Amino acid sequence: MDPYIQLKDVGVTFGKDVVLQRVDLSVEKQGFVSIVGKSGTGKTTLIKMVAGMLAPTEGEVWIQGEKVKEPHHDMTYVFQKPVLLEWRTLLENILLPIELKRKPTQADRDKAKQVLALVELAGDEHKYPHECSGGMLSRAALARALFTSPNLLLMDEPYAALDAMTKELLQVQLLEIAQDYNPTVIFITHDIQEAAFLSDRVILIGDQPSRVMQEYTIPFHRPRKKTLKFEPEFLQVVKQIYQGLETL
Ligand SMILES: Nc1ncnc2c1ncn2[C@@H]1O[C@H](COP(=O)(O)OP(=O)(O)O)[C@@H](O)[C@H]1O
Ligand SMILES: [Mg+2]
Repeated sequence: MDPYIQLKDVGVTFGKDVVLQRVDLSVEKQGFVSIVGKSGTGKTTLIKMVAGMLAPTEGEVWIQGEKVKEPHHDMTYVFQKPVLLEWRTLLENILLPIELKRKPTQADRDKAKQVLALVELAGDEHKYPHECSGGMLSRAALARALFTSPNLLLMDEPYAALDAMTKELLQVQLLEIAQDYNPTVIFITHDIQEAAFLSDRVILIGDQPSRVMQEYTIPFHRPRKKTLKFEPEFLQVVKQIYQGLETL
């Protein structure tokens, strides 16, 4: 079967800095793949190329058999920092992608409320971003990403700034949502436990310049419960990835 996303011999150079070299990576349709690596290894650079926001210096990026030249129409990108418009309520922020295309209907508003409820923001829909905590903003950003049910979801360390409890809640929500409508997901994180918990496959990038160093298949079927994190088999997988990262 053809992969949904394919990076073929991709390299990126900024000035004289070779950041990524000879990166080959495939993601199957509806797969959930995490990319881990130390800070500065080119994770954001890599996902931006998949998003069509950055062109590779060498090699090619393909999505669904088409070479990526611009942002894919069926893709949503969740940034490291939630990007919400300050002068719009959470609900109005969720409706923004629709408003850019047409006037929102009552059905759109109802759906926006549903996705807000999904991330436990049902009572907060009329709040402005400055009235929300960091966790609430991250959840709102996720709700906005999910509102259009994109087939491709690209997430760049979306939970990095959150406390452990909020992070766990959002991981579980993301798993449930992914179970629901099955998008293809690339998730970037430097949290190995998070990567293993969410993904079918974890890709370790690194070394200078960075390339794919190791791939780990995560052998736990879905749906996954948060108690999985305490299972010895799970801890063993986390340890293996951790050791892989340590050797770089
Ligand atoms: N637009 C750019 N111009 C120049 N250098 C960049 C640019 N974007 C990223 N870099 C450099 O590329 C390297 C990888 O960055 P990045 O992809 O953000 O890493 P990561 O997300 O893994 O922390 C860093 O050294 C960074 O400074
Ligand atoms: Mg980054």
